[in-house]
Amino acid sequence: MASNTNRKIYFVFFVCAIALRSALAQLSNQDYYTQRCPRALETIQSAVRSAVANETRMGASLLRLHFHDCFVNGCDASILLDDTVNFTGEKTAFPNVNSVRGFDVIDTIKLKVEKLCPGVVSCADILAVAARDSVVILDGPSWQVQLGRRDSTTASLNDANIDLPAPTLNLSGLITSFFNKGFTAKEMVTLSGSHTIGQARCMTFRTRLYNESNISPSFAMSLKSNCPISGGDNNLSPLDITSPTFFDNAYFSNLVSQEGLLHSDQQLFSGGSTNAQVAAYSKNLGSFRNDFADAMVKMGGLSPLTGSSGQIRTNCRKVN
Ligand code: HEM
Ligand SMILES: *[C@@H]1O[C@H](CO)[C@@H](O)[C@H](O)[C@H]1NC(C)=O
Ligand SMILES: *[C@@H]1O[C@H](CO)[C@@H](O)[C@H](O)[C@H]1NC(C)=O
Ligand SMILES: *[C@@H]1O[C@H](CO)[C@@H](O)[C@H](O)[C@H]1NC(C)=O
Ligand SMILES: *[C@@H]1O[C@H](CO)[C@@H](O)[C@H](O)[C@H]1NC(C)=O
Repeated sequence: MASNTNRKIYFVFFVCAIALRSALAQLSNQDYYTQRCPRALETIQSAVRSAVANETRMGASLLRLHFHDCFVNGCDASILLDDTVNFTGEKTAFPNVNSVRGFDVIDTIKLKVEKLCPGVVSCADILAVAARDSVVILDGPSWQVQLGRRDSTTASLNDANIDLPAPTLNLSGLITSFFNKGFTAKEMVTLSGSHTIGQARCMTFRTRLYNESNISPSFAMSLKSNCPISGGDNNLSPLDITSPTFFDNAYFSNLVSQEGLLHSDQQLFSGGSTNAQVAAYSKNLGSFRNDFADAMVKMGGLSPLTGSSGQIRTNCRKVN
């Protein structure tokens, strides 16, 4: 009697598990390419290593590329598609144009893995692995990258303009932008910790230097010569003034000192609901590292194409 009931419960559980699995279009674990293309991951890692050795900033650029891919209709490499006469992709969207970079590094990696195993390793998986490897190379945490993504045959300029958060957003705008992708306010803070590496153009933080009051006066002063009130739009400054090439928690201690570069950065510590989380991360590198790793796995799982959806592009810049 009891065991019959148990059997029914197991059966229902089993059916639900199968249904859930297909509904979520699940990714596979890190071993996905072990049989399919045994040297794929080490090939990506060594190419990322050379690219970052040549130019440290490339680690930041590759991390951002994965973010800008995933937030626009999922991690499907849509951001890599070039515009053509009859196709408009995401590269000219406002948050991307003259800003996202690293496309040549992805091309180099793709050429190498295509030579090893033609038509096997997706561009979307390359982006996910390259982002993880970049963070590790810059002393950040590691995580097990889920794999098995396939590449889109479409892209959306309009969705890129809507779904990627702007540096002009206030705290509630930032929370909403991430909530729309399934993230909590805490995870939004965690992922913003990516700004512990990389650079931003003057045009993205000029208003903050000249018009905002929640900014350290000496910090603002030190940036003005490279970001004048007019001109110099593309001049670069580090997002983390303290340790721009190390993936640490200095971004958060900067915010506590009112030394966030972007308006959106400082919004996380301006008396609102995320203040405590920023202060906590500024004092606890370990918790930031752990949470960051978890949040990146979650971000990498945004609406992947799996099974027979999409394709494995031969050239990341164009549909097969
Ligand atoms: C919270 C909302 C966010 C806003 C408003 C934002 C905005 C920006 C802006 C304006 C820049 C400078 C771009 C330029 O001047 O060309 C930038 C750079 C960067 N962002 Fe974000 N970002 C956000 C979240 C994230 C997330 C979640 C990640 C990664 C998971 C990320 C990774 C980066 C990196 C690494 C850079 C430096 C890129 C480089 O040096 O090439 N950002 N971001
Ligand atoms: C090395 O980095 C420079 C920019 O600092 C770039 O112009 C050049 O193309 C890079 N070389 C390689 C081989 O990636
Ligand atoms: C788009 O234009 C290219 C030539 O630039 C052509 O090869 C391709 O077939 C066209 N695609 C469509 C869907 O019209
Ligand atoms: C945040 O920005 C939105 C949209 O610009 C605005 O409606 C809202 O009032 C702002 N919230 C705060 C607290 O400033
Ligand atoms: C500062 O704010 C004033 C008034 O809103 C505006 O006219 C000016 O363009 C702003 N300056 C910068 C550098 O953003």
